[in-house]
Amino acid sequence: MSEPIVLGIESTCDETAAAVVRGRTLVSNVVASSMDEHARYGGVIPEIASRAHAEAFVPCVSRALADAGMTIADVDAIAVSAGPGLAGCLAVGVSGAKALAWASGKPLYGINHVIGHIAVTQLQFGAFPPDTMALIVSGGHTSLLHVEDVARHIDVVGTTLDDAAGECFDKVARLLGFPYPGGPHIDRHAQAGDPKAIRVPQGLTQGKAGAAHPYDFSFSGVKTAVARWIEERQAAGETIPVDDVCASLADSVATVLARKAMRGCEQYGSDTLIVGGGFSANSQLRAKLLEFGAQHGVDVRIPELKLCTDNGAMVAMLGVNLVEAGVAPSAPDFPIDSAMPLTKICM
Ligand code: KG4
Ligand code: ZN
Repeated sequence: MSEPIVLGIESTCDETAAAVVRGRTLVSNVVASSMDEHARYGGVIPEIASRAHAEAFVPCVSRALADAGMTIADVDAIAVSAGPGLAGCLAVGVSGAKALAWASGKPLYGINHVIGHIAVTQLQFGAFPPDTMALIVSGGHTSLLHVEDVARHIDVVGTTLDDAAGECFDKVARLLGFPYPGGPHIDRHAQAGDPKAIRVPQGLTQGKAGAAHPYDFSFSGVKTAVARWIEERQAAGETIPVDDVCASLADSVATVLARKAMRGCEQYGSDTLIVGGGFSANSQLRAKLLEFGAQHGVDVRIPELKLCTDNGAMVAMLGVNLVEAGVAPSAPDFPIDSAMPLTKICM
């Protein structure tokens, strides 16, 4: 089996997705989102998302195989996100994948969705060099990882002590009246604003706390500072300079992420930084990482936008890594784990 063919299935949050990867080639990629059904509630409603997964599962998987010109008999293995994510959503995808694996006699891997966000960069940039660092920024995670072997061993170097970067953006976005998810709206407004207009603290970079947590993140203070600034102006009846608020927030968050990621690369002697997760779509972060990377001699690998948000390609790609490494498939009764730790790559 020189180039394993893996069907990847994703259902951790609001996207039902399936894709086929052969070796390092993306053969097909299908994504169905239920975001429109959640937007009016200001956040993803797990019950609605789970029901949408139940409806979209068979069409998505069938379409991914059809687009690849394959049937299930043609794949070497199936991979599915087993966590972290919303329990009901994970249960739909994992149950569907188990049924498919059982009926077809194919090996099944229950994989870690967050590690999938790292693995997916191989489709664009090829294999990981030794001592690769990875910065994961999604709605729920902000972590710096050392990737020793993407199929077998990953260390957590730093993580957020409170809010994730995406959460911080989403909360400020709500105050500014943007619909959920607010991240992309802040991104767009920030492009027209002055990043130095408002003084926003850079979480966990100063003093004793900064020294004690060189690779950890904290965004709740940033969120509170910006929220208070907005509320004071609103109470005084002043107009909020929305573009400047967004630009200042985005600059603070991007600078902290980029600075700490570079420090991690230095510590581990790494000249490659992988960036993944939904928040890696953020244009201020992308620009800052590329700028800092050029200064520090670090090759920064950020996936194209369609591979940043949740998709099946990342699940299939990690599945290929597991097959290539000879890792045993998951037991038939493997559970879902909505809080799957980042050090656990596969069930
Ligand atoms: O990885 P992801 O799709 O879902 C999780 O697994 O958490 O990440 C979603 C997060 C949301 O917080 C969303 O607001 C944020 O990514 N996001 C962005 C942008 N696009 C998505 N945040 C800032 N700028 C963007 N362009
Ligand atoms: Zn994700």
